Amino acid sequence: KIIPVIMAGGKGTRLWPLSRASAPKQFIQFVGDRTLFQATLERVSDSTAYEAPIVITNEDFRFLVAEQAREFGIELSGVLLEPSARNTAPAVAAAAAYALKKFGDGATIQVLASDHEIIADEHYTKAIQVAYKTARAGKLVTFGIAPTEPATGYGYIEVGASLPAGANSVKRFVEKPDAANAKKMLDAGGFVWNSGIFMFGAQQVLEEIRELAPAVATAAVEAIEKAKGDLDFIRLDAEAFDKAPNISIDYAVMEKTKNAAVVPASFTWSDMGSWDAVWKLGSQDASGNVVLGETTLIDTRNSLVFSRHSHLAVQGLEGVAVIASEDAVYVGRLEDSQNVGALVKHLASAK
Ligand code: GDD
Ligand code: MG
Repeated sequence: KIIPVIMAGGKGTRLWPLSRASAPKQFIQFVGDRTLFQATLERVSDSTAYEAPIVITNEDFRFLVAEQAREFGIELSGVLLEPSARNTAPAVAAAAAYALKKFGDGATIQVLASDHEIIADEHYTKAIQVAYKTARAGKLVTFGIAPTEPATGYGYIEVGASLPAGANSVKRFVEKPDAANAKKMLDAGGFVWNSGIFMFGAQQVLEEIRELAPAVATAAVEAIEKAKGDLDFIRLDAEAFDKAPNISIDYAVMEKTKNAAVVPASFTWSDMGSWDAVWKLGSQDASGNVVLGETTLIDTRNSLVFSRHSHLAVQGLEGVAVIASEDAVYVGRLEDSQNVGALVKHLASAK
């Protein structure tokens, strides 16, 4: 069976002010009656294909994880708690080391981001099967999404030759290119977006991390060896884990490895990463607006208008995001959505 590893420790700053330090986007309901984290749990809830999932998150979010898992009604193989956020490479390394301890040498892990909207239909199931076979054959597998625009928030994968089980080799992996480079790759063709979902042999990925980012592997493995568990949580050793460099799995491993494979994915996928993504995914009315909550819009087009707590009126604007939470309001152009993270950093340092 596949061992799911759900990464739920991100800050989600680009979705401020709905996504907050105390409850980042993965724990919020955007559409439907489940949070993004719960929707992720649902995708790995088929116990004929999956073991109980491992969740890796930050100490601060432990109650959100425990409560939302309980509410969804799924048992977990463990909730690993990071003493500090070191990005996804240390998280993957620690989860892989834990999976090896708990499930033995042959463990295959599926690493899932918890901030995606996916339609888990038969295309999805098929892609997972191909990825599983390919990972069992020793590859580091990702899923490739057909790109629709020169987005700068994703990894780009140049697709190589076909491999036996239905996957392809990876010629090149470019994480978060600048706008010019993204456009070049889109125009050239032959590139897909990295979905942010991975399938790895736990051994294989740890070996690659050891080789390509040794300090990450050393810190994460030691943090697992010295971890302290109680009934509900497994706390990674802080002294060890804090030594891990802050780097994502994409930069640390996927850009550098010669062992990557990509499964072309025909399932519906969206990264709920920024306000323009939420606008694109939402149901647009005749004027191209996506609204939530009590709003009045006059002479306003192609905009995202969210209000959870008060009546929000917008007049005469186009292509903007107006997001009102209980105690903060954001107004900006949708095309600047990737920069909200920088704004939030600015806010934090201004406090
Ligand atoms: N445990 C833990 N610890 N989880 C984390 C941490 C951390 O320090 N940082 C981020 N995560 C979680 C997030 O909650 C999210 O579910 C997932 O890891 C991915 O992190 P993001 O911060 O959302 O990454 P991204 O969207 O910028 O980029 C990644 O995803 C894209 C597709 O959505 C990359 O893999 C890109 O290549 C990819 O295209
Ligand atoms: Mg993301």
